[in-house]
Amino acid sequence: MAGTGGIEAQHVNVLPPTIADLSDEDLIGLYTAGAGEPWLRVNFVATLDGSASAGGLSGSLGGDDDLRVFDLLRRVADVVLVAAGTVRDEGYGPMVLHDADVTWRRAHGKPDHPVFAIVTGSLSLDPSSRVFTEAPVRPIVLTSASVSAAASARGRALAEVADVVACSAHSDPDSVDVGLVRRALAERGLGTIHCEGGPSFLGALIAADAVDELTLTIDPSLEGGAGPRIASGASPELRRMRPVHVLRGAGDVLLTRYVRARSSIE
Ligand SMILES: NC(=O)c1ccc[n+]([C@@H]2O[C@H](COP(=O)([O-])OP(=O)(O)OC[C@H]3O[C@@H](n4cnc5c(N)ncnc54)[C@H](OP(=O)(O)O)[C@@H]3O)[C@@H](O)[C@H]2O)c1
Repeated sequence: MAGTGGIEAQHVNVLPPTIADLSDEDLIGLYTAGAGEPWLRVNFVATLDGSASAGGLSGSLGGDDDLRVFDLLRRVADVVLVAAGTVRDEGYGPMVLHDADVTWRRAHGKPDHPVFAIVTGSLSLDPSSRVFTEAPVRPIVLTSASVSAAASARGRALAEVADVVACSAHSDPDSVDVGLVRRALAERGLGTIHCEGGPSFLGALIAADAVDELTLTIDPSLEGGAGPRIASGASPELRRMRPVHVLRGAGDVLLTRYVRARSSIE
């Protein structure tokens, strides 16, 4: 049979199950099965040709089911971890969940909202922004020892509205050690870490071998331009991941869940 219609007819059964058939509880079960504590999950969307943005932002990628999973992953998180570039570029507001998420969290003994944690080397964050002034839970700013609260005017200003935490190795007080970021959150009882990017930060997490899970939505489009990959940086070696599930969402997106190959999740 000629044409794409023939291709669909012959191969329809190899497509993964559709997300529309799954309840929120089904999805939460699929996305949390086997996760350890602490556990660092990173969530991204990318085009077929590997771009993490279209027109400079990721918002036009993914569609409704990507948003559905995005919200459910926030729902189950103790902390939402985002690097400052993404907070600035994507215009993040305060970390306030929807009513249904709050209801679920109360029923599961969790605080109403996850903590918003922001990673920055420069502390170029506005203490008067809604991220801080309308935060339902005091945010955490993770930075280097050399600019942290006591060490700079910016740090002192941010310490008025957030916990400013130094995460530097003794040998390198000017850099943020992402392994220490993960540890600092876990030590505060924030063991389920949901990271929303961005690419520079994911590159640093990969280099530190700190990624337990990647949930990647593949948007069926070709960007063809200069969009960034989902990770940038210098990782010394390949970090092998293993697929746990693939689902199909509205608009033919694929919603994938990969865990670090060493993980015992089946
Ligand atoms: N497709 C997706 O799912 C997705 C997800 C997220 C973001 N994005 C896109 O990614 C773009 C932003 O990219 P980006 O690479 O600039 O994002 P990024 O990683 O969010 O931000 C980079 C900034 O975060 C801080 N940072 C990151 N890693 C650090 C480290 N190891 N140590 C200290 N500070 C660190 C620094 O902040 P300071 O400058 O304050 O020091 C750095 O300039 C946006 O266009 C956004 O739309 C796409």
